[in-house]
Amino acid sequence: MSDGDGDGSSSSSAGLRPRFGYVRAMAPASTANLGPGFDVFGLALDAYSDEVELMVLGDGDRDGKGSLAIETYGASMKVEHIPVDAERNSAGLALLSMIKAYGINDRIRVRIRKGVPAGYGLGSSAASAVAAVRALDAMYGLELDPLVLLGHAARGEVASAGTAHYDNVAASLLGGFVVVRQEPLHAISIDPPDDLLLCVATPRVDVPKGKTGVARSVLPDRVPLGKMVSNVANASLLVAGLLRKDVRLIADAMMRDAVVEPARMHIIPAYAGVKRAALDAGALAVTISGAGPSMLIMVDAERAEGVAKAVNEAYSRDGIECSIRICRAAKGATVLERRL
Ligand code: HSE
Repeated sequence: MSDGDGDGSSSSSAGLRPRFGYVRAMAPASTANLGPGFDVFGLALDAYSDEVELMVLGDGDRDGKGSLAIETYGASMKVEHIPVDAERNSAGLALLSMIKAYGINDRIRVRIRKGVPAGYGLGSSAASAVAAVRALDAMYGLELDPLVLLGHAARGEVASAGTAHYDNVAASLLGGFVVVRQEPLHAISIDPPDDLLLCVATPRVDVPKGKTGVARSVLPDRVPLGKMVSNVANASLLVAGLLRKDVRLIADAMMRDAVVEPARMHIIPAYAGVKRAALDAGALAVTISGAGPSMLIMVDAERAEGVAKAVNEAYSRDGIECSIRICRAAKGATVLERRL
């Protein structure tokens, strides 16, 4: 299967004609890694979402470059810091990848409504890129294979992470829990159990520019064999838990990351104290959400509110405000509206 390079290119001097002049699509937030599944596991979350509107403005440059006019708005934290230059914006980069591949020459207005907090480990850049590629696919009637769309959306991650990682984009595009392999690209979505309930805690702290790159730079280049064996075992058990719809097994495996959590926890504000407080209040599992600083906490319905309160208090003790969402797995990106 192709990840989109050159696939289906129908470039011509006239360019591909749009089927719709306006399309609006949404994509959910997501959490990546889920403990032992670094760069492999993702889960779409119904806590937040982004929307992207595309409008054809008329003929653009022949080479497709510079044919996007991007604006962002919304209630998401740090929305004003998101670059609107297409080459530095995740939706812009993903759209440019499609524009180049399919010979799209139109000038397109891109309005991004940010609902996902940007830079907090909840797949914000992925949600914008995924909503954008879903919308462009519908606008030009491309009907691309999801893996091809995934390849284009992942190029958007270069804007924030410096590399194309696929876990958040796969979850946001396909929905549910995903397992993704980068080379050769493959992604599978699994419906999580109905009783999989999560509490996402987002500290209101300043995040460094290029935070994901910073969080990746603290990871070890080499992993001892014993830790590799441990993470493969726990990642496999986590998938088994998903398939058996066994939240206790999922939680047990999610807590046991021998590689990434130990390397990153020192850059996550209040991590040890909040984790302890959540577990003491009855949380089933706690881990870093993606590259952080948000935390992903598995809960059961009876204890969810108590855990949220304990987490809030633990952050307060460190003088940090936080936003907490109790949420479930979300469906993947969808087109909400199309007009001629
Ligand atoms: N898997 C990526 C990381 C997710 O942890 O760096 C970044 O959102």
